[in-house]
Parts: sequence; structure tokens; C-alpha cells
Amino acid sequence: MATGTRKLTYYVASTVDGFIAGPDGSWEFFPVEGEHLADLSVRYPEAIPTHVRQAIGVDPANVGFDTVLVGRRTYQPALDIGVTSPYAHLKQYVFARGLTSTDPEVEIVDGDPIPLLRKLKHEHGLGIWLCGGGNLAHQLLDEIDELVLKLYPIVIGEGIPLFAGPFQVNNYTLAESHTYGNGVMLLTYARNRG
Ligand SMILES: NC(=O)c1ccc[n+]([C@@H]2O[C@H](COP(=O)([O-])OP(=O)(O)OC[C@H]3O[C@@H](n4cnc5c(N)ncnc54)[C@H](OP(=O)(O)O)[C@@H]3O)[C@@H](O)[C@H]2O)c1
Repeated sequence: MATGTRKLTYYVASTVDGFIAGPDGSWEFFPVEGEHLADLSVRYPEAIPTHVRQAIGVDPANVGFDTVLVGRRTYQPALDIGVTSPYAHLKQYVFARGLTSTDPEVEIVDGDPIPLLRKLKHEHGLGIWLCGGGNLAHQLLDEIDELVLKLYPIVIGEGIPLFAGPFQVNNYTLAESHTYGNGVMLLTYARNRG
């Protein structure tokens, strides 16, 4: 890890061609059913949003994360449906410019994410989940310790990339892989450092 003891993990759904959403921000083409979902909800229960938990009557304990970092364009769809605290079971940081407080449980951050991230890494607790999107992920690229891809057998040709920013080479080691019967893969990469 770059600093501290807590890991920053970018856990995200991607197409085979490296997109996390379509050009218009849509992501409905990622299947919301299939055998991978039950397994992912056990491995990464923190990624189940609060309003979904309430709708399906579950409230699993946090396993790997207690903090989430979210970019404004990832947060906005929740706001648009009146959900101001999408991950109430986590400490939530939303990166946005000119956005006044939306919810007492959400901290709005305007500025360089690196100093905040380094401070968070030094705090005691579970891991830090980088929810996305690609814009925020690229700013935090140097600090990402683990990349967990939910890789769907889908190609879309154009969209919002996993990392949106200038060319930069970063090397990872494949630490774990799991293939589900429906072709979805869970790929866990550890950052090569030094
Ligand atoms: N497939 C998945 O698992 C997954 C996961 C997450 C997101 N997504 C999708 O990804 C898309 C969004 O990704 P994106 O790359 O377009 O945007 P994003 O990273 O979610 O948000 C970028 C925006 O956040 C604000 N921001 C970023 N860095 C900032 C900083 N340092 N200080 C202050 N504000 C900052 C800026 O907004 P303002 O200047 O406007 O405030 C910026 O335009 C959405 O469609 C979402 O659904 C998919």
C-alpha cells in the first residue's frame, strides 16, 4: 500500500471493453439477476445500497469496507430518485463542486482527493471502497491498492471508462479469479508496488 494500513479497493462492474456505463451514464445493461449476484452479495454486502436493503428486507453486516468514496455523477442518480444517503451503513464521501450539503450522513468534498484518502488510510477500521466513477478513479489511481472487477461478457464500444484520464501505466497482479456459470467473472488484482 502507498500509505497507512487500510486498503483502497476499486470494486466496480465493467464490460469486457472496459466501460462502467454507457455514454449517457446508463448501466442497466449489466444484468441484475444471475448466479453471480448471490455470491457477490455475500463477498461485498456493503455494495447493496440502503434503499435496496430496505426494499428486500436485509441488512447484512459490513465485511470488508466501512467507508465509500463516490464521484458526483455516480451520486446524482440516487439524488434524482430522492435517495440522499445511498450507503448509510458506510461513512460516505461524495466528491462534488458547488454542491451544498445533501444529507447529514454524507460529507461533500471539493478538492484533491489524495490528502483525504491518505488520512483515511491511516485511520483504524475496515477497508475503503472506491465506488466510482471513472473520473474519480483516475484521480485516485496512484492510491488504489486493489482492483476488483465484476467483468460482464458484454461489449458496448463506447461509454464511461473504468479510468477517465491521461495515459498512465500501472501494473497489477491477478490475485484471485472466479468464473460464474453465466460468464460473469470476478477478478481481484493487487497493485504492484516498488
Ligand atoms: N459499473 C459500475 O459498477 C459503476 C460504478 C460507479 C459508477 N458508475 C457509473 O459511472 C458514471 C459516472 O462516472 P464518471 O466518471 O462520469 O463520474 P464520477 O467519477 O462519478 O464523477 C465525476 C464528477 O465528480 C466531481 N468531482 C470529481 N473529482 C472531484 C474533486 N476532486 N473535487 C470535487 N469534485 C469532484 C465532478 O463533478 P462536478 O464538478 O459536477 O461537481 C466530476 O465531474 C455513472 O454513469 C455511474 O452510473 C458505474
